[in-house]
Amino acid sequence: MRSHYCGEFNTAHVGEQVEVAGWVHRRRDHGGVIFLDIRDRTGIVQVVFDPDTQESFATADRVRSEYVLHLTGRVRPRPEGTVNPDMATGEVEVLGATLEILNPSLTPPFQLDEYSEAGEDVRLRYRYLDLRRPEMQQRLHMRAVITSAVRRHLENAGFWEVETPTLTRATPEGARDYLVPSRTHPGAFFALPQSPQVFKQLLMISGMDKYYQIARCYRDEDLRADRQPEFTQIDIEASFVTEQDVMALTEGMLKSLFADVLGSKLDDFPVLTWAEAMSKYGSDKPDLRNPLVLTDIADLMRDVEFKVFNGPANDPQGRVVALRAPGGGQLTRKVIDGYTEFVGRYGARGLAYIKVNDRAAGTDGLQSPILKFLPETVVGQVLDRVGAVDGDLVFFGADKFGVVCDAMGALRNELGRELGLISEAPEHKWAPCWVVSWPMFETGRDGVLAPAHHPFTRPTCTPEALLADPLAARAAAYDVVLNGYELGGGSLRIHDQTMQQAVFDALNIGQEAEAKFGFLLDALKLGCPPHGGIALGLDRLVMLMTDTHAIRDVIAFPKTQTAACLMTSAPSPVDEHQLRELHIRLRPQ
Ligand code: AMO
Ligand code: AMP
Repeated sequence: MRSHYCGEFNTAHVGEQVEVAGWVHRRRDHGGVIFLDIRDRTGIVQVVFDPDTQESFATADRVRSEYVLHLTGRVRPRPEGTVNPDMATGEVEVLGATLEILNPSLTPPFQLDEYSEAGEDVRLRYRYLDLRRPEMQQRLHMRAVITSAVRRHLENAGFWEVETPTLTRATPEGARDYLVPSRTHPGAFFALPQSPQVFKQLLMISGMDKYYQIARCYRDEDLRADRQPEFTQIDIEASFVTEQDVMALTEGMLKSLFADVLGSKLDDFPVLTWAEAMSKYGSDKPDLRNPLVLTDIADLMRDVEFKVFNGPANDPQGRVVALRAPGGGQLTRKVIDGYTEFVGRYGARGLAYIKVNDRAAGTDGLQSPILKFLPETVVGQVLDRVGAVDGDLVFFGADKFGVVCDAMGALRNELGRELGLISEAPEHKWAPCWVVSWPMFETGRDGVLAPAHHPFTRPTCTPEALLADPLAARAAAYDVVLNGYELGGGSLRIHDQTMQQAVFDALNIGQEAEAKFGFLLDALKLGCPPHGGIALGLDRLVMLMTDTHAIRDVIAFPKTQTAACLMTSAPSPVDEHQLRELHIRLRPQ
Protein backbone atom coordinates (compact mmCIF):
# COMPACT_ATOMS: atom_id res chain seq x y z
CA MET A 1 0.00 0.00 0.00
CA ARG A 2 2.96 2.33 0.17
CA SER A 3 6.25 3.05 -1.56
CA HIS A 4 7.84 4.96 1.32
CA TYR A 5 7.39 5.62 4.99
CA CYS A 6 6.50 9.23 5.85
CA GLY A 7 9.71 10.00 7.71
CA GLU A 8 11.96 8.90 4.84
CA PHE A 9 11.51 11.74 2.40
CA ASN A 10 14.33 14.11 1.48
CA THR A 11 15.57 16.00 -1.54
CA ALA A 12 16.85 12.76 -3.11
CA HIS A 13 13.22 11.80 -3.74
CA VAL A 14 12.31 14.99 -5.60
CA GLY A 15 10.36 14.19 -8.75
CA GLU A 16 9.39 10.64 -7.67
CA GLN A 17 5.83 9.40 -7.77
CA VAL A 18 5.13 8.01 -4.31
CA GLU A 19 2.47 6.21 -2.34
CA VAL A 20 2.00 6.93 1.37
CA ALA A 21 -0.29 5.68 4.14
CA GLY A 22 -0.73 7.02 7.63
CA TRP A 23 -2.61 9.25 10.05
CA VAL A 24 -3.52 12.93 9.74
CA HIS A 25 -1.30 14.59 12.32
CA ARG A 26 -2.50 18.08 11.44
CA ARG A 27 -4.61 19.67 8.75
CA ARG A 28 -4.26 23.29 7.72
CA ASP A 29 -6.39 25.15 5.22
CA HIS A 30 -4.43 28.01 3.67
CA GLY A 31 -7.16 29.60 1.61
CA GLY A 32 -7.31 27.50 -1.47
CA VAL A 33 -4.55 25.03 -0.58
CA ILE A 34 -4.85 22.26 2.02
CA PHE A 35 -1.83 20.99 3.92
CA LEU A 36 -1.99 17.59 5.56
CA ASP A 37 0.81 16.45 7.85
CA ILE A 38 0.76 12.68 7.45
CA ARG A 39 2.31 10.62 10.21
CA ASP A 40 3.48 7.05 10.58
CA ARG A 41 5.96 5.50 12.98
CA THR A 42 8.94 6.91 11.10
CA GLY A 43 7.89 10.55 11.14
CA ILE A 44 5.79 13.15 9.39
CA VAL A 45 5.60 14.39 5.82
CA GLN A 46 3.69 17.39 4.53
CA VAL A 47 1.25 16.72 1.69
CA VAL A 48 -0.32 19.56 -0.29
CA PHE A 49 -3.63 19.38 -2.14
CA ASP A 50 -4.64 22.15 -4.47
CA PRO A 51 -7.97 22.64 -6.20
CA ASP A 52 -6.53 21.45 -9.56
CA THR A 53 -7.04 17.87 -8.34
CA GLN A 54 -10.69 18.46 -7.70
CA GLU A 55 -11.80 15.15 -6.22
CA SER A 56 -8.81 14.73 -3.87
CA PHE A 57 -9.05 18.34 -2.84
CA ALA A 58 -12.66 17.79 -1.81
CA THR A 59 -11.64 14.69 0.17
CA ALA A 60 -8.75 16.58 1.79
CA ASP A 61 -11.26 19.19 2.80
CA ARG A 62 -13.25 16.56 4.69
CA VAL A 63 -10.44 14.83 6.58
CA ARG A 64 -9.77 15.62 10.21
CA SER A 65 -7.11 14.77 12.78
CA GLU A 66 -6.31 11.06 13.06
CA TYR A 67 -8.16 10.00 9.92
CA VAL A 68 -6.31 7.11 8.28
CA LEU A 69 -5.36 7.93 4.71
CA HIS A 70 -3.85 6.37 1.63
CA LEU A 71 -2.52 8.75 -1.00
CA THR A 72 -0.30 9.11 -4.00
CA GLY A 73 1.59 12.13 -5.22
CA ARG A 74 4.89 13.55 -6.39
CA VAL A 75 7.74 14.74 -4.19
CA ARG A 76 8.82 18.32 -4.76
CA PRO A 77 11.12 20.76 -2.99
CA ARG A 78 9.33 23.15 -0.67
CA PRO A 79 9.10 26.65 -2.06
CA GLU A 80 11.77 29.08 -0.87
CA GLY A 81 11.08 30.37 2.65
CA THR A 82 8.88 27.42 3.63
CA VAL A 83 11.63 24.92 4.40
CA ASN A 84 11.22 23.61 7.97
CA PRO A 85 14.64 22.87 9.47
CA ASP A 86 13.04 21.33 12.60
CA MET A 87 11.46 18.57 10.58
CA ALA A 88 13.44 15.62 9.17
CA THR A 89 11.42 15.84 5.94
CA GLY A 90 11.26 19.65 6.12
CA GLU A 91 12.99 20.35 2.81
CA VAL A 92 10.35 18.60 0.72
CA GLU A 93 6.63 18.02 0.45
CA VAL A 94 4.37 15.71 -1.52
CA LEU A 95 2.03 17.26 -4.04
CA GLY A 96 -1.04 15.06 -3.59
CA ALA A 97 -2.68 13.40 -6.58
CA THR A 98 -5.11 10.76 -5.30
CA LEU A 99 -6.48 10.57 -1.78
CA GLU A 100 -8.48 7.80 -0.16
CA ILE A 101 -9.88 7.80 3.38
CA LEU A 102 -9.20 4.31 4.75
CA ASN A 103 -10.93 5.09 8.01
CA PRO A 104 -12.28 8.26 9.57
CA SER A 105 -11.76 9.05 13.25
CA LEU A 106 -13.82 10.70 15.91
CA THR A 107 -12.23 13.81 17.38
CA PRO A 108 -9.49 12.34 19.58
CA PRO A 109 -9.83 12.98 23.33
CA PHE A 110 -6.55 14.89 23.24
CA GLN A 111 -4.51 16.50 20.50
CA LEU A 112 -1.51 14.33 19.74
CA ASP A 113 0.66 17.31 18.90
CA GLU A 114 -0.18 19.09 22.17
CA TYR A 115 -0.20 16.05 24.42
CA SER A 116 1.41 17.80 27.39
CA GLU A 117 -1.91 19.51 27.98
CA ALA A 118 -3.55 16.14 28.48
CA GLY A 119 -3.58 14.62 31.96
CA GLU A 120 -1.93 11.26 32.45
CA ASP A 121 -5.27 9.60 33.25
CA VAL A 122 -6.72 10.40 29.87
CA ARG A 123 -3.48 9.36 28.16
CA LEU A 124 -3.56 6.01 29.95
CA ARG A 125 -7.25 5.47 29.19
CA TYR A 126 -6.53 6.03 25.49
CA ARG A 127 -3.06 4.55 25.64
CA TYR A 128 -3.23 3.39 22.00
CA LEU A 129 -3.58 7.05 21.01
CA ASP A 130 -0.86 8.17 23.38
CA LEU A 131 1.39 5.56 21.78
CA ARG A 132 0.85 7.18 18.37
CA ARG A 133 2.89 10.15 19.55
CA PRO A 134 6.34 10.13 17.95
CA GLU A 135 8.03 10.40 21.33
CA MET A 136 6.31 7.26 22.63
CA GLN A 137 6.93 5.39 19.40
CA GLN A 138 10.62 6.23 19.60
CA ARG A 139 10.80 4.97 23.17
CA LEU A 140 9.16 1.66 22.33
CA HIS A 141 11.38 1.35 19.29
CA MET A 142 14.41 1.95 21.50
CA ARG A 143 13.15 -0.74 23.84
CA ALA A 144 12.98 -3.20 20.95
CA VAL A 145 16.49 -2.24 19.82
CA ILE A 146 17.88 -2.64 23.35
CA THR A 147 16.15 -5.98 23.91
CA SER A 148 17.45 -7.28 20.62
CA ALA A 149 21.01 -6.11 21.38
CA VAL A 150 20.86 -7.81 24.79
CA ARG A 151 19.71 -11.06 23.20
CA ARG A 152 22.53 -10.89 20.65
CA HIS A 153 25.13 -10.18 23.28
CA LEU A 154 24.05 -13.05 25.51
CA GLU A 155 23.65 -15.48 22.64
CA ASN A 156 27.16 -14.64 21.42
CA ALA A 157 28.38 -15.34 24.94
CA GLY A 158 26.85 -18.82 24.79
CA PHE A 159 23.65 -18.24 26.77
CA TRP A 160 20.50 -20.17 25.91
CA GLU A 161 17.10 -18.59 26.27
CA VAL A 162 14.86 -20.86 28.31
CA GLU A 163 11.32 -19.99 29.33
CA THR A 164 10.16 -20.69 32.86
CA PRO A 165 6.58 -20.95 34.13
CA THR A 166 4.50 -17.96 35.13
CA LEU A 167 1.88 -20.11 36.82
CA THR A 168 4.00 -21.30 39.68
CA ARG A 169 4.67 -21.19 43.42
CA ALA A 170 5.62 -18.13 45.39
CA THR A 171 9.24 -17.00 44.89
CA PRO A 172 10.39 -14.78 47.71
CA GLU A 173 11.77 -11.44 46.46
CA GLY A 174 10.33 -9.36 49.27
CA ALA A 175 7.00 -8.32 47.74
CA ARG A 176 3.46 -9.71 47.98
CA ASP A 177 2.44 -12.31 45.41
CA TYR A 178 -0.21 -12.06 42.74
CA LEU A 179 -2.26 -15.21 43.19
CA VAL A 180 -4.23 -17.18 40.61
CA PRO A 181 -6.94 -19.54 41.88
CA SER A 182 -6.96 -23.07 40.53
CA ARG A 183 -10.23 -24.50 39.20
CA THR A 184 -8.94 -28.04 39.20
CA HIS A 185 -7.51 -27.86 42.73
CA PRO A 186 -10.19 -26.35 44.96
CA GLY A 187 -8.76 -23.92 47.49
CA ALA A 188 -5.27 -23.96 45.94
CA PHE A 189 -3.56 -21.06 44.21
CA PHE A 190 -0.74 -20.49 41.80
CA ALA A 191 1.48 -17.48 42.36
CA LEU A 192 2.79 -15.39 39.49
CA PRO A 193 6.60 -15.31 39.79
CA GLN A 194 8.27 -12.33 41.47
CA SER A 195 11.28 -13.51 39.47
CA PRO A 196 12.39 -16.76 37.82
CA GLN A 197 14.94 -17.18 40.62
CA VAL A 198 14.23 -20.75 41.70
CA PHE A 199 13.72 -22.02 38.16
CA LYS A 200 16.94 -20.56 36.85
CA GLN A 201 18.79 -22.27 39.68
CA LEU A 202 17.05 -25.54 38.83
CA LEU A 203 18.17 -25.06 35.22
CA MET A 204 21.75 -24.92 36.47
CA ILE A 205 21.16 -28.18 38.34
CA SER A 206 19.84 -29.48 34.98
CA GLY A 207 23.21 -28.72 33.42
CA MET A 208 22.03 -25.89 31.11
CA ASP A 209 25.23 -24.07 32.10
CA LYS A 210 24.30 -20.63 30.75
CA TYR A 211 20.71 -19.42 30.78
CA TYR A 212 18.99 -16.15 30.07
CA GLN A 213 15.44 -14.99 29.70
CA ILE A 214 13.68 -11.72 29.04
CA ALA A 215 11.32 -12.55 31.86
CA ARG A 216 8.08 -10.97 33.01
CA CYS A 217 7.90 -10.63 36.80
CA TYR A 218 5.00 -9.72 39.07
CA ARG A 219 5.20 -7.98 42.42
CA ASP A 220 2.37 -6.59 44.45
CA GLU A 221 4.25 -3.77 46.17
CA ASP A 222 4.02 -0.02 46.68
CA LEU A 223 4.46 1.59 43.29
CA ARG A 224 6.77 4.42 42.38
CA ALA A 225 8.02 5.99 39.19
CA ASP A 226 10.57 3.20 38.79
CA ARG A 227 8.31 0.34 39.88
CA GLN A 228 5.43 -1.41 38.15
CA PRO A 229 3.48 -4.43 39.40
CA GLU A 230 4.40 -6.20 36.19
CA PHE A 231 7.87 -5.60 34.79
CA THR A 232 10.59 -7.26 32.79
CA GLN A 233 13.97 -8.59 33.83
CA ILE A 234 16.97 -9.52 31.78
CA ASP A 235 17.50 -12.66 33.83
CA ILE A 236 20.86 -14.41 33.71
CA GLU A 237 22.35 -17.48 35.39
CA ALA A 238 25.56 -19.43 34.80
CA SER A 239 27.31 -22.42 36.37
CA PHE A 240 30.90 -22.69 37.60
CA VAL A 241 31.27 -18.92 37.81
CA THR A 242 32.81 -16.47 40.24
CA GLU A 243 31.39 -13.10 41.24
CA GLN A 244 33.93 -11.51 38.89
CA ASP A 245 32.68 -13.63 35.97
CA VAL A 246 29.08 -12.46 36.36
CA MET A 247 30.12 -8.85 36.95
CA ALA A 248 32.43 -8.84 33.92
CA LEU A 249 29.71 -10.33 31.71
CA THR A 250 27.15 -7.76 32.87
CA GLU A 251 29.54 -4.84 32.62
CA GLY A 252 30.64 -5.92 29.16
CA MET A 253 27.03 -6.22 28.05
CA LEU A 254 26.11 -2.77 29.36
CA LYS A 255 29.21 -1.19 27.83
CA SER A 256 28.52 -2.63 24.41
CA LEU A 257 24.83 -1.75 24.69
CA PHE A 258 25.56 1.90 25.47
CA ALA A 259 28.18 2.03 22.71
CA ASP A 260 26.01 0.36 20.06
CA VAL A 261 22.68 1.95 20.87
CA LEU A 262 23.66 5.40 22.17
CA GLY A 263 27.23 5.80 20.95
CA SER A 264 28.24 6.42 24.59
CA LYS A 265 31.44 5.05 26.06
CA LEU A 266 31.12 3.79 29.62
CA ASP A 267 34.32 3.70 31.66
CA ASP A 268 35.12 0.74 33.88
CA PHE A 269 32.53 0.58 36.65
CA PRO A 270 33.94 1.51 40.06
CA VAL A 271 33.36 -1.16 42.71
CA LEU A 272 32.18 -0.02 46.15
CA THR A 273 31.49 -2.21 49.09
CA TRP A 274 28.04 -1.82 50.59
CA ALA A 275 29.69 -0.39 53.71
CA GLU A 276 31.56 2.23 51.66
CA ALA A 277 28.43 3.17 49.75
CA MET A 278 26.44 3.65 52.94
CA SER A 279 29.27 5.52 54.59
CA LYS A 280 29.96 8.01 51.78
CA TYR A 281 26.55 8.30 50.19
CA GLY A 282 24.04 6.99 52.72
CA SER A 283 22.62 4.78 49.99
CA ASP A 284 23.11 1.32 48.51
CA LYS A 285 22.37 2.83 45.09
CA PRO A 286 24.50 5.96 45.07
CA ASP A 287 24.28 8.48 42.27
CA LEU A 288 27.97 9.00 41.55
CA ARG A 289 27.28 12.00 39.32
CA ASN A 290 26.65 13.86 42.57
CA PRO A 291 29.92 15.11 44.15
CA LEU A 292 28.46 15.49 47.67
CA VAL A 293 29.55 13.03 50.36
CA LEU A 294 28.59 12.30 53.95
CA THR A 295 31.34 12.67 56.53
CA ASP A 296 31.24 10.66 59.77
CA ILE A 297 31.83 12.82 62.83
CA ALA A 298 30.66 10.58 65.70
CA ASP A 299 34.21 10.46 67.09
CA LEU A 300 34.15 14.26 67.53
CA MET A 301 30.73 14.27 69.18
CA ARG A 302 31.15 11.64 71.91
CA ASP A 303 31.90 14.14 74.66
CA VAL A 304 29.86 17.16 73.61
CA GLU A 305 26.95 18.17 75.80
CA PHE A 306 24.43 18.31 72.95
CA LYS A 307 22.31 15.19 73.55
CA VAL A 308 21.03 15.06 69.99
CA PHE A 309 24.61 14.34 68.87
CA ASN A 310 26.25 12.60 71.82
CA GLY A 311 23.47 10.00 72.08
CA PRO A 312 23.93 8.49 68.61
CA ALA A 313 27.69 9.16 68.79
CA ASN A 314 27.95 6.78 71.76
CA ASP A 315 25.41 4.25 70.45
CA PRO A 316 27.00 1.36 68.49
CA GLN A 317 23.87 1.41 66.30
CA GLY A 318 23.96 5.18 65.95
CA ARG A 319 25.49 7.45 63.37
CA VAL A 320 26.40 11.15 63.23
CA VAL A 321 27.29 12.75 59.91
CA ALA A 322 27.96 16.11 58.38
CA LEU A 323 27.06 17.02 54.80
CA ARG A 324 28.72 20.04 53.25
CA ALA A 325 26.61 21.97 50.76
CA PRO A 326 29.01 24.10 48.71
CA GLY A 327 27.62 27.62 48.33
CA GLY A 328 24.70 26.60 50.59
CA GLY A 329 25.21 29.76 52.65
CA GLN A 330 22.70 31.40 50.35
CA LEU A 331 19.90 29.07 51.37
CA THR A 332 17.16 30.96 53.18
CA ARG A 333 15.63 29.96 56.47
CA LYS A 334 12.50 28.92 54.59
CA VAL A 335 14.44 26.62 52.27
CA ILE A 336 16.28 25.08 55.22
CA ASP A 337 12.95 24.50 56.97
CA GLY A 338 11.81 22.80 53.78
CA TYR A 339 14.81 20.44 53.97
CA THR A 340 14.07 19.77 57.63
CA GLU A 341 10.59 18.67 56.64
CA PHE A 342 12.06 16.66 53.75
CA VAL A 343 14.41 14.64 56.00
CA GLY A 344 11.51 14.20 58.40
CA ARG A 345 9.83 12.02 55.77
CA TYR A 346 12.76 9.63 56.16
CA GLY A 347 12.43 9.51 59.92
CA ALA A 348 14.92 12.27 60.90
CA ARG A 349 13.86 14.21 63.97
CA GLY A 350 15.62 17.41 62.97
CA LEU A 351 18.25 18.87 60.70
CA ALA A 352 20.94 20.89 62.42
CA TYR A 353 23.14 23.15 60.30
CA ILE A 354 25.97 25.64 60.42
CA LYS A 355 26.23 28.49 57.94
CA VAL A 356 29.83 29.43 57.24
CA ASN A 357 29.94 33.18 56.53
CA ASP A 358 33.53 33.99 57.46
CA ARG A 359 35.73 31.27 58.87
CA ALA A 360 38.50 33.69 59.73
CA ALA A 361 36.15 35.43 62.17
CA GLY A 362 35.80 32.29 64.33
CA THR A 363 32.42 31.67 65.96
CA ASP A 364 31.27 35.16 64.98
CA GLY A 365 31.60 34.18 61.35
CA LEU A 366 29.22 31.22 61.78
CA GLN A 367 25.46 31.11 62.02
CA SER A 368 23.68 28.14 63.55
CA PRO A 369 21.09 27.09 66.11
CA ILE A 370 23.51 24.52 67.59
CA LEU A 371 26.68 26.58 68.13
CA LYS A 372 25.74 27.18 71.72
CA PHE A 373 25.78 23.43 72.34
CA LEU A 374 29.19 22.70 70.81
CA PRO A 375 32.72 23.66 71.91
CA GLU A 376 34.47 25.94 69.43
CA THR A 377 37.30 23.44 68.94
CA VAL A 378 34.88 20.70 67.94
CA VAL A 379 33.14 23.02 65.48
CA GLY A 380 36.54 23.86 63.99
CA GLN A 381 37.44 20.17 63.65
CA VAL A 382 34.13 19.39 61.96
CA LEU A 383 34.49 22.26 59.50
CA ASP A 384 38.07 21.20 58.73
CA ARG A 385 37.02 17.61 58.19
CA VAL A 386 34.30 18.47 55.69
CA GLY A 387 36.51 21.12 54.04
CA ALA A 388 34.00 23.94 54.63
CA VAL A 389 34.85 27.32 53.11
CA ASP A 390 33.14 30.70 53.34
CA GLY A 391 29.74 30.63 51.70
CA ASP A 392 29.08 26.95 52.53
CA LEU A 393 26.46 25.42 54.69
CA VAL A 394 26.99 22.19 56.64
CA PHE A 395 24.02 19.98 57.53
CA PHE A 396 24.05 17.41 60.33
CA GLY A 397 22.22 14.17 60.87
CA ALA A 398 22.29 12.16 64.09
CA ASP A 399 20.18 9.10 64.79
CA LYS A 400 20.17 5.33 64.29
CA PHE A 401 22.40 4.24 61.40
CA GLY A 402 19.48 3.42 59.09
CA VAL A 403 17.63 6.68 59.72
CA VAL A 404 20.75 8.81 59.15
CA CYS A 405 21.60 6.95 55.93
CA ASP A 406 18.05 7.21 54.58
CA ALA A 407 17.53 10.84 55.51
CA MET A 408 20.99 12.24 54.75
CA GLY A 409 21.35 10.07 51.63
CA ALA A 410 18.06 11.49 50.33
CA LEU A 411 19.15 15.02 51.29
CA ARG A 412 22.38 14.46 49.37
CA ASN A 413 20.38 13.64 46.24
CA GLU A 414 18.05 16.58 46.73
CA LEU A 415 20.88 19.08 47.33
CA GLY A 416 22.86 17.72 44.39
CA ARG A 417 19.90 18.43 42.11
CA GLU A 418 18.85 21.73 43.63
CA LEU A 419 22.34 23.21 43.87
CA GLY A 420 22.93 22.20 40.25
CA LEU A 421 25.88 19.97 41.17
CA ILE A 422 24.93 17.14 38.82
CA SER A 423 26.81 17.70 35.63
CA GLU A 424 24.85 17.64 32.38
CA ALA A 425 28.01 17.28 30.31
CA PRO A 426 27.81 14.29 27.95
CA GLU A 427 31.06 12.84 29.27
CA HIS A 428 29.59 12.80 32.80
CA LYS A 429 26.15 11.66 31.81
CA TRP A 430 26.52 8.06 32.95
CA ALA A 431 27.82 7.08 36.37
CA PRO A 432 27.53 3.31 36.82
CA CYS A 433 28.99 1.42 39.75
CA TRP A 434 28.94 -1.94 41.48
CA VAL A 435 27.94 -2.31 45.08
CA VAL A 436 29.37 -5.54 46.52
CA SER A 437 29.82 -7.34 49.83
CA TRP A 438 26.27 -6.88 51.03
CA PRO A 439 25.00 -7.90 54.40
CA MET A 440 23.22 -11.24 54.11
CA PHE A 441 20.30 -10.04 56.23
CA GLU A 442 18.72 -6.82 57.39
CA THR A 443 16.19 -6.11 60.10
CA GLY A 444 12.92 -4.68 58.88
CA ARG A 445 11.03 -1.93 60.71
CA ASP A 446 9.21 -4.68 62.60
CA GLY A 447 12.59 -5.92 63.88
CA VAL A 448 12.23 -9.22 61.99
CA LEU A 449 15.25 -10.56 60.10
CA ALA A 450 14.83 -10.51 56.30
CA PRO A 451 17.21 -11.37 53.46
CA ALA A 452 18.90 -8.27 51.99
CA HIS A 453 18.46 -9.95 48.57
CA HIS A 454 16.74 -13.33 48.65
CA PRO A 455 17.29 -16.45 50.73
CA PHE A 456 19.20 -18.28 47.97
CA THR A 457 22.10 -15.83 48.09
CA ARG A 458 25.39 -17.43 49.18
CA PRO A 459 26.83 -16.16 52.47
CA THR A 460 30.61 -15.79 52.58
CA CYS A 461 30.83 -17.47 56.01
CA THR A 462 30.15 -20.99 57.32
CA PRO A 463 26.62 -22.13 58.27
CA GLU A 464 27.71 -22.14 61.93
CA ALA A 465 28.99 -18.55 61.81
CA LEU A 466 25.82 -17.51 59.97
CA LEU A 467 23.58 -18.90 62.69
CA ALA A 468 25.78 -17.53 65.49
CA ASP A 469 25.55 -13.92 64.24
CA PRO A 470 23.29 -13.54 61.20
CA LEU A 471 23.58 -9.73 61.05
CA ALA A 472 27.37 -9.97 60.77
CA ALA A 473 27.18 -12.30 57.75
CA ARG A 474 28.13 -10.90 54.35
CA ALA A 475 26.84 -12.22 51.03
CA ALA A 476 28.50 -12.89 47.69
CA ALA A 477 26.05 -10.41 46.20
CA TYR A 478 26.47 -7.52 43.80
CA ASP A 479 24.15 -4.78 42.58
CA VAL A 480 24.76 -2.72 39.51
CA VAL A 481 23.72 0.91 39.93
CA LEU A 482 23.34 3.60 37.29
CA ASN A 483 22.85 7.30 38.07
CA GLY A 484 21.28 6.49 41.42
CA TYR A 485 18.98 3.73 40.16
CA GLU A 486 19.31 0.09 41.13
CA LEU A 487 19.58 -1.37 37.67
CA GLY A 488 20.19 -4.96 38.65
CA GLY A 489 21.09 -7.31 41.42
CA GLY A 490 22.58 -10.74 41.63
CA SER A 491 24.73 -13.10 43.60
CA LEU A 492 26.42 -16.43 43.80
CA ARG A 493 23.87 -18.93 45.04
CA ILE A 494 23.86 -21.48 47.75
CA HIS A 495 24.57 -24.86 46.14
CA ASP A 496 24.85 -26.76 49.35
CA GLN A 497 21.82 -28.08 51.20
CA THR A 498 23.24 -27.52 54.69
CA MET A 499 23.89 -23.86 54.01
CA GLN A 500 20.45 -23.42 52.45
CA GLN A 501 18.86 -24.95 55.52
CA ALA A 502 20.97 -22.65 57.77
CA VAL A 503 19.70 -19.58 55.93
CA PHE A 504 16.10 -20.73 56.29
CA ASP A 505 16.75 -21.41 59.97
CA ALA A 506 18.35 -18.00 60.50
CA LEU A 507 15.21 -16.50 58.97
CA ASN A 508 13.18 -18.66 61.30
CA ILE A 509 11.31 -20.26 58.40
CA GLY A 510 12.93 -23.71 58.59
CA GLN A 511 9.64 -25.61 58.75
CA GLU A 512 7.79 -23.44 56.29
CA ALA A 513 10.68 -23.57 53.82
CA GLU A 514 10.68 -27.35 53.87
CA ALA A 515 7.06 -27.25 52.72
CA LYS A 516 7.60 -24.46 50.18
CA PHE A 517 11.05 -25.24 48.84
CA GLY A 518 11.48 -28.90 49.69
CA PHE A 519 11.95 -29.55 45.94
CA LEU A 520 14.89 -27.14 45.87
CA LEU A 521 16.46 -28.60 49.01
CA ASP A 522 16.16 -32.05 47.39
CA ALA A 523 17.65 -30.77 44.14
CA LEU A 524 20.65 -29.31 45.98
CA LYS A 525 21.45 -32.89 47.09
CA LEU A 526 21.35 -34.28 43.55
CA GLY A 527 24.49 -32.82 42.01
CA CYS A 528 24.08 -29.06 42.07
CA PRO A 529 26.97 -27.15 40.48
CA PRO A 530 28.17 -23.89 42.03
CA HIS A 531 26.34 -21.16 40.15
CA GLY A 532 25.41 -17.52 40.17
CA GLY A 533 23.69 -14.86 38.15
CA ILE A 534 22.02 -11.51 38.02
CA ALA A 535 18.82 -9.84 36.86
CA LEU A 536 18.66 -6.37 35.34
CA GLY A 537 15.47 -4.34 35.25
CA LEU A 538 14.86 -3.93 31.51
CA ASP A 539 12.28 -1.19 32.06
CA ARG A 540 14.68 0.85 34.20
CA LEU A 541 17.48 0.35 31.70
CA VAL A 542 15.30 1.58 28.83
CA MET A 543 13.99 4.45 30.95
CA LEU A 544 17.54 5.66 31.60
CA MET A 545 18.67 5.13 28.02
CA THR A 546 15.69 7.10 26.68
CA ASP A 547 16.16 9.95 29.17
CA THR A 548 12.79 9.65 30.80
CA HIS A 549 11.90 9.54 34.49
CA ALA A 550 9.18 6.92 34.79
CA ILE A 551 9.18 3.33 33.59
CA ARG A 552 5.53 3.88 32.56
CA ASP A 553 6.99 5.81 29.62
CA VAL A 554 8.78 2.75 28.26
CA ILE A 555 6.05 0.16 28.86
CA ALA A 556 3.38 -0.05 26.17
CA PHE A 557 0.47 -0.65 28.50
CA PRO A 558 1.49 0.23 32.07
CA LYS A 559 -0.56 0.30 35.24
CA THR A 560 -1.34 3.30 37.41
CA GLN A 561 0.03 4.10 40.85
CA THR A 562 -2.80 1.97 42.28
CA ALA A 563 -1.90 -1.00 40.06
CA ALA A 564 -4.86 -0.70 37.70
CA CYS A 565 -5.17 -0.49 33.92
CA LEU A 566 -7.34 2.49 33.05
CA MET A 567 -7.82 1.32 29.49
CA THR A 568 -9.18 -2.18 30.12
CA SER A 569 -10.45 -1.42 33.65
CA ALA A 570 -8.47 -4.35 35.03
CA PRO A 571 -8.68 -5.62 37.68
CA SER A 572 -12.44 -6.05 37.41
CA PRO A 573 -15.16 -8.03 39.16
CA VAL A 574 -15.99 -11.46 37.71
CA ASP A 575 -19.37 -13.11 37.54
CA GLU A 576 -20.74 -15.44 40.13
CA HIS A 577 -20.50 -18.44 37.85
CA GLN A 578 -16.77 -17.97 37.35
CA LEU A 579 -16.21 -17.57 41.07
CA ARG A 580 -18.19 -20.71 41.79
CA GLU A 581 -16.07 -22.69 39.33
CA LEU A 582 -13.00 -21.43 41.14
CA HIS A 583 -14.49 -22.43 44.50
CA ILE A 584 -14.37 -18.83 45.69
CA ARG A 585 -16.91 -16.96 47.75
CA LEU A 586 -16.25 -13.24 48.27
CA ARG A 587 -16.41 -11.68 51.70
CA PRO A 588 -18.82 -8.76 51.88
CA GLN A 589 -16.84 -5.49 51.61
P1 AMO B 1 15.80 -7.96 42.23
O1 AMO B 1 14.62 -8.13 43.12
O2 AMO B 1 16.89 -7.04 42.66
O3 AMO B 1 16.52 -9.35 41.98
O4 AMO B 1 15.30 -7.51 40.80
C1 AMO B 1 16.24 -7.28 39.75
C2 AMO B 1 15.95 -5.97 39.08
O5 AMO B 1 14.61 -5.89 38.61
C3 AMO B 1 14.17 -4.54 38.65
N1 AMO B 1 12.92 -4.46 39.41
C4 AMO B 1 11.83 -3.76 39.03
N2 AMO B 1 11.60 -3.00 37.95
C5 AMO B 1 10.39 -2.45 37.83
N3 AMO B 1 9.39 -2.61 38.71
C6 AMO B 1 9.56 -3.37 39.82
N4 AMO B 1 8.55 -3.54 40.68
C7 AMO B 1 10.84 -3.98 40.03
N5 AMO B 1 11.36 -4.79 40.97
C8 AMO B 1 12.63 -5.06 40.59
C9 AMO B 1 15.26 -3.72 39.29
C10 AMO B 1 16.06 -4.77 40.02
O6 AMO B 1 17.41 -4.40 40.18
N6 AMO B 1 16.09 -12.93 41.38
C11 AMO B 1 16.84 -11.71 41.69
C12 AMO B 1 18.01 -11.52 40.74
C13 AMO B 1 19.14 -12.48 40.95
O7 AMO B 1 19.52 -12.70 42.12
O8 AMO B 1 19.66 -12.97 39.93
C14 AMO B 1 15.92 -10.51 41.61
O9 AMO B 1 14.78 -10.58 41.18
O10 AMO B 1 16.03 -3.10 38.27
P1 AMP C 1 16.55 20.89 69.46
O1 AMP C 1 17.51 20.89 70.62
O2 AMP C 1 15.70 19.65 69.37
O3 AMP C 1 15.76 22.17 69.35
O4 AMP C 1 17.45 20.86 68.19
C1 AMP C 1 18.45 21.82 67.92
C2 AMP C 1 18.83 21.71 66.47
O5 AMP C 1 19.23 20.37 66.19
C3 AMP C 1 17.70 22.03 65.51
O6 AMP C 1 18.27 22.72 64.42
C4 AMP C 1 17.21 20.67 65.07
O7 AMP C 1 16.72 20.72 63.74
C5 AMP C 1 18.49 19.85 65.13
N1 AMP C 1 18.24 18.43 65.36
C6 AMP C 1 17.38 17.86 66.24
N2 AMP C 1 17.42 16.51 66.15
C7 AMP C 1 18.33 16.23 65.20
C8 AMP C 1 18.86 15.02 64.64
N3 AMP C 1 18.42 13.82 65.04
N4 AMP C 1 19.79 15.10 63.66
C9 AMP C 1 20.23 16.32 63.25
N5 AMP C 1 19.79 17.47 63.75
C10 AMP C 1 18.87 17.45 64.70
